[in-house]
Amino acid sequence: MIETILSAHVTHKSADLSCLELIGKHDERTLIQRLGNIKGVKECAVLRTCNRIELYAFTEDSVATRQGMEELISKFIPFDPERNLVQFLTQTDSIRHLLRVASGLESMIVGEDQIQSQVKEAFEFAGAEGHIGPVLSLVFRKAISVGKKVRTETRVNKGSVSVGSAAVDLAERLLGDLEGRTILVIGAGEMATLIAKYLVGKRPNTIFVSNRTYDRAVELAWYLGGQAIRLDSLYDYLHRCDIVLVATSSPHVILDKMMVEKALARKGERGKLLIIDVSFPRNVAEEVKVLGGVELHDMDGLRGVAQENIMRRKKEIHEAERIISEELQLLDRKLEEMGASEVIRAMRKKYDSMKERETRKAMNRLNGGSDATEEVVADFANALTSRFLADPTEMLKNASREKREEILKAAKELFRLEEEKNVS
Ligand SMILES: NC(=O)c1ccc[n+]([C@@H]2O[C@H](COP(=O)([O-])OP(=O)(O)OC[C@H]3O[C@@H](n4cnc5c(N)ncnc54)[C@H](OP(=O)(O)O)[C@@H]3O)[C@@H](O)[C@H]2O)c1
Repeated sequence: MIETILSAHVTHKSADLSCLELIGKHDERTLIQRLGNIKGVKECAVLRTCNRIELYAFTEDSVATRQGMEELISKFIPFDPERNLVQFLTQTDSIRHLLRVASGLESMIVGEDQIQSQVKEAFEFAGAEGHIGPVLSLVFRKAISVGKKVRTETRVNKGSVSVGSAAVDLAERLLGDLEGRTILVIGAGEMATLIAKYLVGKRPNTIFVSNRTYDRAVELAWYLGGQAIRLDSLYDYLHRCDIVLVATSSPHVILDKMMVEKALARKGERGKLLIIDVSFPRNVAEEVKVLGGVELHDMDGLRGVAQENIMRRKKEIHEAERIISEELQLLDRKLEEMGASEVIRAMRKKYDSMKERETRKAMNRLNGGSDATEEVVADFANALTSRFLADPTEMLKNASREKREEILKAAKELFRLEEEKNVS
């Protein structure tokens, strides 16, 4: 059976957020265990971010594994091959895709840096769960190093773009300007911090920061020159805000329809509220959309900003793709050579132990001082040659007696004896 890498991808390019949420709400451990149990799978990993769910498998039975992957995915989303919701890739295409992902080229916000650590975390998690072997280890390590290389050698990530910066860009685009506005940031983790960094310099009137752990809200508010508020006091502040930016890892809704409705009522007739929720799963109830005076956007709403970002980075993307192609060729070669690695390792071990034994003998004679150095070195070299060639010589004689021409031919090729003859 031919061993191959097979991967399945549900990403922001083919699926909307609600579809990604259907798979995303299942924890990684369950996903990776189920993937690992599919027939043929020898190694596997799951990459799960707000923009993608990707299953990678190194399999000895690609037909059974593909079928198993389809069954696994169809447990979470309606699997319809006609809709192209799920993309399947094999071997080089699959690896190229992972290299592109780690380099930020497949991200909704092309060039964002966060995906790099997400790929690393996915690899480490799969390793800790016992699903990584030599093949995926090589592939993921390469993806992580290519991600770094692309970022240092090109300007694909210039301007520290992120989902956070895109959310702020979207707010600016919708409201014209953030100057004088009152902004509430919900969350104080990595994404909320990226939002905060991008807000600096936009000269809003007030920034409130709210977080489950109040101390972290205080820290981020201090950085922004804003005010921390407790998560259970949102009601007291929501009506004062023009913009709410939400980025938490809560699996539950944080802003529901009733809360927003009350805030709008307190704002008065002409009150307006822009809410941008970049959480995955979403933290703002979808039915908030029906309220007059509210504009609610989620990750899907960032697509417009994302598209412009791609246009601005065309040259850098091209350069990154060149690096990826080069690195892919090197990796392909290493993977092809992997079949020989076990034999090479065993061969090295065998010959190293012969070398050590002969070296010890030669050193003992030299330390004894009675034998001439030239004589010891000559004996050492002769002993090594004899020992190294003993087994192949015996094998070749046997092969000749048994008329096994193919072994004689393989030996000539292996020891490059035809070339030697031509040279002399
Ligand atoms: N990182 C990215 O590149 C990226 C990109 C796009 C979208 N997102 C989305 O942004 C959100 C935050 O991601 P992150 O990278 O900032 O994660 P993070 O660094 O782990 O921070 C998680 C944040 O969520 C809060 N939180 C966790 N569980 C909560 C709960 N049950 N109730 C209320 N708050 C809770 C945490 O509060 P405590 O301080 O109390 O723990 C913290 O503020 C996620 O939904 C993620 O999918 C992230």
